Amino acid sequence: MYKTGIAGAVLACASAAVADGVVRGVNLGGWLVTEPWMTPSVFEKTNTTSEWALCSALGKDEALSQLQNHWSTFYTRDDLVAIKKAGLTAIRIPLGYWAVDLLDFEPYVSGQYPYLVQAIQWANELGLKAMIDLHGVPGSQNGWEESGIVGGIEFPANSSNSDRSLKVLQNLTTEFTKSQYGGVVTNIELMNEPIFANAPLQEFYTAGAKVVGPANSSGINTTIHDAFYNPPTWKNYDPYNSQAQSPAPYVTLDTHQFWAFPPLDTLGKEAILERICQFGQTIKTNNSGIPPTLVGEFSLSTGYTANSTSQTEEDQDKRTWFRMAFEAQNAAYAPNAPGQASIGWYFWAWKTEYDIDAWSYRRGLADGYIPSNVSDPTTYVFPIMENGCINENVTYSAPKNIPYFNGDSNAQSASSSASASSTGKNGQASATSSGSAASATKSSSAGSVMPALGAAIGLAAGAVAMLS
Ligand SMILES: *[C@@H]1O[C@H](CO)[C@@H](O)[C@H](O)[C@H]1NC(C)=O
Ligand SMILES: *[C@@H]1O[C@H](CO)[C@@H](O)[C@H](O)[C@H]1NC(C)=O
Ligand SMILES: *[C@@H]1O[C@H](CO)[C@@H](O)[C@H](O)[C@H]1NC(C)=O
Ligand SMILES: *[C@@H]1O[C@H](CO)[C@@H](O)[C@H](O)[C@H]1NC(C)=O
Ligand SMILES: *[C@@H]1O[C@H](CO)[C@@H](O)[C@H](O)[C@H]1NC(C)=O
Ligand SMILES: *[C@@H]1O[C@H](CO)[C@@H](O)[C@H](O)[C@H]1NC(C)=O
Ligand SMILES: *[C@@H]1O[C@H](CO)[C@@H](O)[C@H](O)[C@H]1NC(C)=O
Ligand SMILES: *[C@@H]1O[C@H](CO)[C@@H](O)[C@H](O)[C@H]1NC(C)=O
Ligand SMILES: *[C@@H]1O[C@H](CO)[C@@H](O)[C@H](O)[C@H]1NC(C)=O
Repeated sequence: MYKTGIAGAVLACASAAVADGVVRGVNLGGWLVTEPWMTPSVFEKTNTTSEWALCSALGKDEALSQLQNHWSTFYTRDDLVAIKKAGLTAIRIPLGYWAVDLLDFEPYVSGQYPYLVQAIQWANELGLKAMIDLHGVPGSQNGWEESGIVGGIEFPANSSNSDRSLKVLQNLTTEFTKSQYGGVVTNIELMNEPIFANAPLQEFYTAGAKVVGPANSSGINTTIHDAFYNPPTWKNYDPYNSQAQSPAPYVTLDTHQFWAFPPLDTLGKEAILERICQFGQTIKTNNSGIPPTLVGEFSLSTGYTANSTSQTEEDQDKRTWFRMAFEAQNAAYAPNAPGQASIGWYFWAWKTEYDIDAWSYRRGLADGYIPSNVSDPTTYVFPIMENGCINENVTYSAPKNIPYFNGDSNAQSASSSASASSTGKNGQASATSSGSAASATKSSSAGSVMPALGAAIGLAAGAVAMLS
């Protein structure tokens, strides 16, 4: 239960969201690119820590057979139906280069593409939009398991890695601009979470933008990850013109906001909410020159844990905090007026194998700490003020004993999902170690950011290695 004493005035501001075109989406994480913390059973038998190592240990035939099983079961049409039902408007699908361009010596296996196509077709039927995100590139862009391989950052080492990535981007652009896909794919992200030097990054972004865009011809926006610099760092960014005085049209920025990892993991509740609010105001400032910005990944994982250690479904304090943390971020990351850079968000993730509470959207629906229809502001608890922050002065205490779905037919979420092990284990254990370098702490300007990045990111790399 939080502060009492609701101010009548704030309710006037609940006019909230601009309805049309706002992205409120979820990541289909751990699916076409696997990660041990998201789907541990895929990795258990080999005790490996990345998809590369997994495939290496199994050999191609066995790897293909096991991964085919994973691809065909971890996400099904039922998941997308449930996503739509939750009022979500979009999905972000991480994909590794090896789905399209695989060399013999690389242990990965290929076969993801038909599942990608299938997901886009389902999205088309259901009225969802999609971003496809190149989550792993040859040589790795960050050395974290999310990129497919743990170790070095060899992407910038030679131009063949870049050429191969561009080939993949060309394939995705050519494929998903075909009319049969109904314009579902609105964004292609050139590379997820890169952490290498600025010069090769800028060069790659320019080359990638030429392949994907301009969207006025392809219909697909080019999306670039902010490489862990704040959106204002990318003010007036134009991949075609380094002297530009305004952001290039059809180029969208992706920034990932996490609150669980050093140095932000020491923040208390109020400090987290304050930071979320401030960040929201940054991307809501009128005509700021910041490109249209999506928060492509965020979660409810924070260093702050409400007064609790017990299971989430029985734990009122924890669920009350999650609800507030969710609504604060929805308010901050989605636009609430014209002229703002903010255009929406994708939660990481729709689910994990064990539906870790802070990381599984459908778990939040089932346990009642995520609004049942996120496109409908009348389902929110906390009013959104004009400044884009929530008003915390609401007496709210999450209802008790909402059942985690676990096959419970009263639960509103995707219990029909094909995930073999979504049967109610509360995978809290892995939640604590997973996550990414958070957000928002790097602030140098675009030209000089990269040299400082190694040090800045190095601190967090251990923790980050676990995430998306
Ligand atoms: C799994 O791998 C880790 C890290 O390499 C190692 O510490 C651990 O002992 C291994 N566990 C098993 C069951 O092989
Ligand atoms: C969610 O809310 C939006 C906005 O009110 C509405 O258009 C949509 O139909 C709702 N979705 C469901 C599944 O009720
Ligand atoms: C480029 O780098 C990748 C990743 O390190 C490596 O596997 C490949 O052999 C290199 N290619 C060339 C042409 O040097
Ligand atoms: C893209 O690559 C996939 C997988 O190799 C292939 O099936 C598909 O036909 C390709 N699409 C285009 C447009 O090249
Ligand atoms: C498409 O966008 C490019 C780059 O912004 C611009 O130069 C071109 O004029 C645009 N074409 C049309 C038809 O709008
Ligand atoms: C796509 O680009 C247009 C033009 O810059 C922008 O208005 C829109 O918000 C972008 N949408 C997405 C989803 O990236
Ligand atoms: C935390 O929970 C315990 C056990 O329910 C309770 O005794 C204690 O008063 C709570 N502390 C706060 C600060 O709410
Ligand atoms: C921001 O710009 C929009 C038009 O683009 C305008 O309607 C709105 O009043 C402006 N808001 C502020 C706070 O200036
Ligand atoms: C919330 O309550 C606190 C303490 O009464 C007050 O200082 C603050 O201004 C209130 N905030 C809003 C937005 O009403």
